[in-house]
Amino acid sequence: MSETSLAQPRSAPRFSLHGKTALVVGGSSGIGQAIAHGFQASGARVAVAARTPEKLAEAAQRLQQGDPDARGYAVDVSQPEAIDRLATLVLADFGHVDVLVVCQGTTVLKPAEDVTPDEYDEVMHTNLRSVFFTCTRFGRHMLERRTGSIITIASLAAHRGWPLASVYAASKHGVAGLTKTLAAEWADRGVRVNAISPGFFLTELNQSKMSPKRKENALLRTPTGRFGQVDELVGAAVYLASPAAGFVTGSVLNVDGGYLASGI
Ligand SMILES: NC(=O)c1ccc[n+]([C@@H]2O[C@H](COP(=O)([O-])OP(=O)(O)OC[C@H]3O[C@@H](n4cnc5c(N)ncnc54)[C@H](OP(=O)(O)O)[C@@H]3O)[C@@H](O)[C@H]2O)c1
Repeated sequence: MSETSLAQPRSAPRFSLHGKTALVVGGSSGIGQAIAHGFQASGARVAVAARTPEKLAEAAQRLQQGDPDARGYAVDVSQPEAIDRLATLVLADFGHVDVLVVCQGTTVLKPAEDVTPDEYDEVMHTNLRSVFFTCTRFGRHMLERRTGSIITIASLAAHRGWPLASVYAASKHGVAGLTKTLAAEWADRGVRVNAISPGFFLTELNQSKMSPKRKENALLRTPTGRFGQVDELVGAAVYLASPAAGFVTGSVLNVDGGYLASGI
């Protein structure tokens, strides 16, 4: 420990999100919904956005039990104009956004040689193009205020080849690259950009799409020997959103039960 840090003891890490406004895109189910509730429990005002109105309304109602000001916005962020409309609405309602989680995602599981252009576009538009334009649209707002934390959601498929999920893996490698690039580009203007990289969590995204054999393989290769629970991603998200992570940008935080650490 340096003399400086001995002479000037640091205060406790600041994990509270009190006074912050957070928008979770893809916050109506699965990982995004868990993060939205975790942010609320840590003191943030929370808004969520997703496409399906009924599911979104139920998600917003659950959040409103904790804070009547919580809001849901029905939007398809694969359309860049829709992201502009979302930003206009959210900023009119909340004034500003301190924390953005970009959690929308989809996948197609099939041999790469059978993927159609439409399937390619659907996955890339949802998982990468929309992430790019959501980050940059809200990033402009954060850069103007010279403060903000953006959290993207990567995947094991951002680190490894992923048989039968070629487009998904391409999109998630893109998310990791985008996250690091935006972090480097915006670091000196107060905006931090980090990714959470989840292991296997059974959600609407993959529950029905993964075959029993694929699930078995996933468990065999995960050292903890079990799937994650979405609540187990909340701590990582709150940390990255909070002042405690003030010097953390461009990181990809693995929450994967040891998957990427294991060689066998
Ligand atoms: N589950 C896992 O094991 C796992 C592992 C690694 C990474 N991830 C990533 O984690 C993220 C969340 O996935 P999840 O597992 O929580 O799946 P999920 O339960 O299906 O959640 C996806 C969310 O995104 C919304 N969404 C999808 N397309 C959208 C669009 N075009 N515009 C706006 N909202 C959209 C969905 O609502 P609507 O369908 O109503 O729009 C939903 O709220 C994804 O990026 C996924 O790739 C998941």
